[in-house]
Amino acid sequence: MSATLKSLRALADPTRLRIMALLERDELSVNELQEITRLGQSRISTHLGLLQEAGLLQSRREGKRTFYKLNQNADEVAREFIQLAVRGAKETHEHALDQLNLKRVLARRDEQAQVYFNQVAGRFDRVYGPGRSWQALGNLLLRILPPLVVADLGSGEGLVSELLARRCKKVIAVDNSERIVAFGAAKAKKNGLKNLEFRLGDLEAPPIDPQSVDLVILSQALHHAAVPARAIASAHKILRAGGQIMILDLVQHHFEKARELYGDRWLGFAESDLQGWLEETGFKKIEISVVAREEQPPHIQTFLAAALK
Ligand SMILES: C[S@@+](CC[C@H](N)C(=O)[O-])C[C@H]1O[C@@H](n2cnc3c(N)ncnc32)[C@H](O)[C@@H]1O
Repeated sequence: MSATLKSLRALADPTRLRIMALLERDELSVNELQEITRLGQSRISTHLGLLQEAGLLQSRREGKRTFYKLNQNADEVAREFIQLAVRGAKETHEHALDQLNLKRVLARRDEQAQVYFNQVAGRFDRVYGPGRSWQALGNLLLRILPPLVVADLGSGEGLVSELLARRCKKVIAVDNSERIVAFGAAKAKKNGLKNLEFRLGDLEAPPIDPQSVDLVILSQALHHAAVPARAIASAHKILRAGGQIMILDLVQHHFEKARELYGDRWLGFAESDLQGWLEETGFKKIEISVVAREEQPPHIQTFLAAALK
């Protein structure tokens, strides 16, 4: 049977015209169509099958449900039939009621989509949401960065370095643990990050040329330094004029076990100490703020200190 005859046959039924009109603006599932038209599921499915076979509808599966809509890729002839069908449906006596029911079903669909967000409003930031991770958000924020040369001092295996390397011109990750450096370098290689170089060294005297980097990062590393002021002075030395230092570390706390559990030398820092070290070294535009507070005891807080050379 030719496509034209198939279309004519498919549209020679007022119920199928009603279905076409219901799909004029929105895609609908079989259940939704059933609810609107009050027809049985098998009848609806038969009608939908015929319309799809004639090239007037298209469908997509989502989990267990199939959604139908007017065929967006219809050729010119089929498009004319679709328009004719929608116009014809408006003359059927069920049209007004169908449109009312359609509105109700669509409104309920919107409500259902909002139920979850209404429930979690006020604590949304603290509940799990599929796909919402700090790593993903970090990647998003990194897109804002210009292509910098970065030194990540006390880098660990490269949690921060790897993220930065996806965007920055070059990242030099310095750590004084041989095993961590070997592991980080192997991981960077495996991930194809050619611009991420791991170097074994001390963050108080990093093996990096003077005035060669745009940004120095010390993420949870300064509290491992024997003399934090020396680490800050070294950061100043390797920065280009106008370069920036960013320190993420802990606000002074009393969780003594951190020494034994995590090998911490310092139980965080007082803001005034940090401000003093940065000023004495010659950093300008110093900004220090608390950026995170743990909900569980001992309620460790994290500060971010940023300053310019
Ligand atoms: C808490 S981890 C932080 C890792 C990473 N910066 C992050 O934010 O995930 C501290 C790292 O500093 C390294 N480290 C400790 N003392 C250091 C020193 N004097 N010089 C260089 N690295 C040091 C440790 O080996 C460890 O990998």
